[in-house]
Amino acid sequence: MAKFITIEGGEGAGKSTVLRTIQNYLQKKKIEHIITREPGGTVLAEKIRSLLLEQSDEVLLPESELLLFFASRHQHIQHKIKPALEKSLWVVSDRFVDASFAYQGAGRGLDDKRIQYLKEWLVGDLRPDHTLLLDAPPAIGLDRVKARGNLDRIEVEQIDFFNRVRHYYLELADKEPTRFHIIDTRLSLENVEENVQVWLRRIAV
Ligand SMILES: Nc1ncnc2c1ncn2[C@@H]1O[C@H](COP(=O)(O)OP(=O)(O)O)[C@@H](O)[C@H]1O
Ligand SMILES: [Mg+2]
Repeated sequence: MAKFITIEGGEGAGKSTVLRTIQNYLQKKKIEHIITREPGGTVLAEKIRSLLLEQSDEVLLPESELLLFFASRHQHIQHKIKPALEKSLWVVSDRFVDASFAYQGAGRGLDDKRIQYLKEWLVGDLRPDHTLLLDAPPAIGLDRVKARGNLDRIEVEQIDFFNRVRHYYLELADKEPTRFHIIDTRLSLENVEENVQVWLRRIAV
């Protein structure tokens, strides 16, 4: 059975890095898969991604931000994720719906119930089989992001915002221990990679 795997975590937690490890593993095992990301993943969803990440003089209101994330996600689910799973391809996505609860809910302070409503409406019963949570204190992730180059509209938030995001993710992982696996990305790249491999061997049967 094709699996749907999502990677979550803060800015610079190492999602893109870990995604390459997962891709190499699946290639080696000859498991057919697609690697994708949120926001984005389709042509139109990538355009919405640009709207979400570019800095602008006009404030993007939290409600607009939430709706744009879900608009992008809806395109992504209907045009890419579901068709791939129906073809028995594994789908590995850099972020998914958990990120809306963490960022727009815990981070921006929007009511969970509104996010839940959008989730039930637009995501329905599509649920990741496994979610890898990459965890590191926001200061570490942000330093890594800064070393990487220009910051996007979300990366320029205050540290408190990222602390709320991190705590939300950790609480969620605690509530859903069978879906979530947490990897501490304060560790060296070698250690993180090794932990990802161990996890993959466990879930990829
Ligand atoms: N465990 C790690 N130790 C040191 N540097 C790391 C580690 N994981 C990622 N990095 C580096 O930190 C930066 C951000 O990582 P990235 O995978 O792009 O994070 P994300 O996709 O979560 O924003 C990259 O330059 C990456 O090489
Ligand atoms: Mg990334």
